Amino acid sequence: MIGRDLELVAQLLREGKPVAVPTETVYGLAANALDEEAVTEVFRIKNRPYFDPLIVHVANADNAWQYAVNIREDSVKLAAAFWPGPLTLLLEKADNIPDLVTSGSSKVALRVPRHPLTLQLLQMLEFPLAAPSANPFGYISPTRPEHVQDQLGDQVEYILDGGPCEVGLESTIVDCTSDTPLVLRLGGLTLASLESILGFMPECRVRGGSNPSAPGMLDRHYSPESGVILTDDPEKAIIMNRDKKCAFLLFGDAEVPVLGYTLNLSPAGDLSEAARNLFHYMRVLDAVKPDLIIAMKLPDIGLGAAINDRLQRASF
Ligand code: TXA
Ligand code: MG
Repeated sequence: MIGRDLELVAQLLREGKPVAVPTETVYGLAANALDEEAVTEVFRIKNRPYFDPLIVHVANADNAWQYAVNIREDSVKLAAAFWPGPLTLLLEKADNIPDLVTSGSSKVALRVPRHPLTLQLLQMLEFPLAAPSANPFGYISPTRPEHVQDQLGDQVEYILDGGPCEVGLESTIVDCTSDTPLVLRLGGLTLASLESILGFMPECRVRGGSNPSAPGMLDRHYSPESGVILTDDPEKAIIMNRDKKCAFLLFGDAEVPVLGYTLNLSPAGDLSEAARNLFHYMRVLDAVKPDLIIAMKLPDIGLGAAINDRLQRASF
C-alpha cells in the first residue's frame, strides 16, 4: 500500500516489518537497525549480499553520536553544516549497532535525511532505521514511490509517499575514521560543498570495483536491463551501433541526428535538475527496451561528477 500514514508506518517498524520511506536522495527500505531479524528481512527483500552494509538513519546529530565512538572534529563540523541532508558519515561503530548492519565492519555509516516525513518518523521512533536504497540489489535506485511499488510492491507492506525525491542521487559518503576524511561515494553533496566546510579538498577513493570499504561501489551497479554506454561523442556511438535500436539520454542543448527514443536530463543544462531526473529517466528508457541506451557524459563538475559516476557504473 502507498500512503502517508505515519502512525501505521511506526507501528509496522516496531513490529519488525520493513517499510519503504522517502528521503531527499532516494527511497530507502527501512527497518529497526537494532532488530537483527528486521534487518535480515531487508537483506532478503533486496536480495542483497550480507557483505554489503547498510546506512543507519537518525533524527539528528546528537542521536548519531550515540552509535559511534572516537568522533573527530571534522565529523562534527560536517554534520553541523549538512545534516539533515545528503551526507553519510562513516564513523567508528559503537557496540549498540549489530554487526549484521555493518557487515562485520568496525565502522558504521550514519546519516540524517532531509525529507520532512521521514524526519518526523525518526523523531517518533525509539530506534534508528537501517535503510539501503529500496531497489533490488544492483538495479537503479528509486526516486518515486511508484518505482518501489513496481519492483518491491508485493514484498513491502507499506510505502510512505513523499513524492519525487528532491535531490535524486544517493548521499555522498565520507569516511571520517582517520585524520584525513576520505570520500568513498560521490553523491548529492558536492566535493566543493565539503571543501567549503573542511577548508581543504578531501581525497576521493571512489573508483575500483572491488573496493571492500564500500561494496555498493561495485563497478556494475545502478544497472538497467538494457545496455548503457556513456560517451562524450554520441555521434560516433551512433555510427558504431547503427545496427542496434538505440535510445538516448542527453543533457543541455545536445541533439541526436537519428530517430530514437530520446530524453534530456536538463535542456537548460542545470545539474540539479539532471540529478533529479536521472534515475526516473533511466527507468523510462529501460521500459522502452532498447538494445542500447547511449548516454551523454555531463560536465565533470559539481553534481555532474556524481551523475557521470552512476552512468559509468550502469554501463558495465
Ligand atoms: O542516500 C542514501 O544514502 C540512500 C538513502 C536511502 O539514505 N541510501 C543508500 O543506501 O544509498 P545503499 O545501501 O543503497 O548504499 C549505501 C552504501 C553502500 O555502498 C554500502 O556499501 C555503503 O553505503 N556502506 C554502508 N555502511 C557502510 C559501512 N559500515 N562501511 C562501508 N560502507 C558502508
Ligand atoms: Mg543502493
